[in-house]
Amino acid sequence: MSSSLDTREAAGAPALLTNCGGIGFHNPVLTASGTFGYGQEFDALCSLRSLGGLVTKGISPSPRLGNPPPRICETAAGMLNSIGLENVGVEAFAREKLPFLRACGTRVLVNFFGTTFDEYVDCGARLAALDGVDGLEMNVSCPNIKAGGIEFGRDPSVLSDLVKACRAVIRKPLWVKLTPNTSDIVALARACADNGADAVSIINTITGMAIDVRTRRPKIATVFGGLSGPAIKPVALRMVYQVYRAKIGIPICGIGGIQDGNDAIEFLLAGASCVQVGTQSFVDPASAERIIREMEDYCRAQGVIDVRELVGGLAISQ
Ligand SMILES: Cc1cc2nc3c(=O)[nH]c(=O)nc-3n(C[C@H](O)[C@H](O)[C@H](O)COP(=O)(O)O)c2cc1C
Repeated sequence: MSSSLDTREAAGAPALLTNCGGIGFHNPVLTASGTFGYGQEFDALCSLRSLGGLVTKGISPSPRLGNPPPRICETAAGMLNSIGLENVGVEAFAREKLPFLRACGTRVLVNFFGTTFDEYVDCGARLAALDGVDGLEMNVSCPNIKAGGIEFGRDPSVLSDLVKACRAVIRKPLWVKLTPNTSDIVALARACADNGADAVSIINTITGMAIDVRTRRPKIATVFGGLSGPAIKPVALRMVYQVYRAKIGIPICGIGGIQDGNDAIEFLLAGASCVQVGTQSFVDPASAERIIREMEDYCRAQGVIDVRELVGGLAISQ
């Protein structure tokens, strides 16, 4: 896909090519939904074509304004957000954002969601029909209005029905992004695999809160928000490993607190076939690109010829 990649391969560089959930990537590093806009915002700040892929901001059938401010705050080793899934909606996405993405030179996954079953199915079907969309990532950490606001993705039987309904209308690779706000991540992953998902993305943010002691008010307007960044990496890694070990039959994309190449390698060793970089792009917009180089350096130093050798390579003495 890129000439610099061809040059590195010719020079005997480790192969970074990989495949996850029905999509081939020229390296295993993608950028995470909600932390990389619609791609174009980062065009002047990093080389999009050097990325394995990018995942767009979550798209819903109609535009959404999101939650009232303040909706982000910094925490120890991370951040809380309650953006409230602000986005332009399917129609404006197709008209205003997709033409750029079609030409950006990397794989494009569109993250999507709904507030009812019908909205999920409608949104997924419309997005999958668009030229330039390589695959879909379904965000199931969204409140189910008809079930009193409980996240769709928390109940394996609700999740099974949702994945089945979306699978029936989506003829492109379908990844499901799991919530970590559960006591049984394997049951959720299995619900996806058994109902036709092509991959699972693990994890979305962990519910948390923060208080301003001076005003005695919550630091974000909705009180609760999603915790992301380095603070969540050990939890994410544990969940990726649990799902990998359960052999559910579909690959994993690992997400959570990745800051550098070694963090990404940890996810591969735990069983992820590829990774997404999220909050770190706010610290350094070109971090995903740097992480790819650092993974390559690791492979070279460790004598790894093909990055896929690392997947699930965790050494454990039992
Ligand atoms: C500001 C912000 C917005 C996000 N928006 C979305 C979203 O629209 N859809 C989604 O599935 N995940 C969303 N996420 C979750 C991230 O994609 C990612 O799963 C999470 O932040 C953990 O990765 P990280 O620790 O590398 O940031 C968002 C995260 C942040 C920080």
